[in-house]
Amino acid sequence: MERTFIKDLRGKIDQTVKLQGWLQTLRDQKKIQFLILRDPTGLVQVAHWKPNDEVLAEKIAALGAETALTITGKVIDNPVVKLNQLEVQLESLAVENQAESPLPFDPFAETLPALDYRLDWRYMDLRRQYNNLLFQVQTTMEMAMREYWMKHDFIEIHSPKLMGTPSESGAELFSLDYFDRKAYLAQSPQFYKQMAMAAGFERIFEIGPVFRADPSFTARHMTEFTGVDLEISWIDSHEDVMAFEENWLQYVYSRVKELHGEVIKETFDVDLVIPRVPFPRIPMREAVDILKSRGYVIPADKKGDIDPGGEREIASYVKEKYDHDFVFLTDWPIGVRPFYHMRLEGNETLTRSFDLIANGLEITTGAQREHRPDVLAKQALEKGLHIEPIQYYIDFFRFGCPPHGGFGLGLSRLLMVMLNLPNIREAVYIFRGPTRLNP
Ligand code: 4AD
Ligand code: MG
Repeated sequence: MERTFIKDLRGKIDQTVKLQGWLQTLRDQKKIQFLILRDPTGLVQVAHWKPNDEVLAEKIAALGAETALTITGKVIDNPVVKLNQLEVQLESLAVENQAESPLPFDPFAETLPALDYRLDWRYMDLRRQYNNLLFQVQTTMEMAMREYWMKHDFIEIHSPKLMGTPSESGAELFSLDYFDRKAYLAQSPQFYKQMAMAAGFERIFEIGPVFRADPSFTARHMTEFTGVDLEISWIDSHEDVMAFEENWLQYVYSRVKELHGEVIKETFDVDLVIPRVPFPRIPMREAVDILKSRGYVIPADKKGDIDPGGEREIASYVKEKYDHDFVFLTDWPIGVRPFYHMRLEGNETLTRSFDLIANGLEITTGAQREHRPDVLAKQALEKGLHIEPIQYYIDFFRFGCPPHGGFGLGLSRLLMVMLNLPNIREAVYIFRGPTRLNP
């Protein structure tokens, strides 16, 4: 018999169906047993009249919650049943995998254990509908990103994550033994996506793992995350990159709203707003003045940069002034940007770069890149870098490379912002942090 999903039972009244899922709860009464069965599409009540089969009744009585079952039964229309106004009258039951008892925790309890404990038992935690939906939304997000890229002639690349030299700065670098030498885990696909520009690919994207040996314990940092990166050629400035990103994100939000808007409202209490374009843009120099005028003090060690509190404060300002949840902070000082960012025409102390802040959280850093090898080498030296290890990268620009730029976006950060999640650990399938390598 073919499997029926719980959501389709209404169309199968009076038929015998096969259902497969988990025993969420069992109510064992004197004459009758009610099994609440769950599959990814919903819950249904399965009834077993004990006198029909006493042996089966005993077997059912011994089932632990969350046992994986295949059952067959007849679908009965029953207005008295709260769940879907129908029930399935049990005919046969096969235990596919008995759940041990007690469970590490009950994923369907009113109050859940602390997040860190739930992460220890992530597969149990993921059984919650809330989590299932979260990853359905992420799937749609990535699909929409790709749809937009496909419509705009992008090529997908997969760059190596094993590197002979660091891919960003020397900081936050994981190194490992690579036969008789050292290798590094890619901190971003930065150099290789730029190589695609030298290769004449013009427009590329990559969705892939990014590694950062960042020891911080915050609600937004991971040591391994999924980066969404893109790079485009023949741009005039970082403005072109921002214009691309805002339209792309608007499309992603509209597709997610189209497919999940209602359930997102129900489950996350979020009324998804498709962002207006253009997003507001504020040069960093202005942002610093705005913060000052609002009495926000950026910590002294953050000179030229902005701290998470400052990001939230700027977001409040933008919300009040423009009624917008997104803002591009642009034209960052060279001191807080990597050597490969191109400088602003007419002001060599600023870069053609931006961060995108969404609901007060940085989700993107992007820039126009310096594509003139002599200038690039000079900027690297100014940052105190050694040329020799990055010579292969500078060489990309020696034989005809168009002006180009791009950005990197953290996939989980976008999901966090979209669904208003308090912690990135909730927004990632399996979290990796300084003290977490398991499961
Ligand atoms: O801001 P980042 O470090 O920029 C780059 O990697 C550049 N190569 C991008 C470019 O094309 N210029 O990282 C990009 C994004 C951040 O804005 C953030 O969303 C996310 O990646 N991110 C992290 N997400 C989770 N945990 C971490 N430790 C993250 N570090 C960055
Ligand atoms: Mg950044």
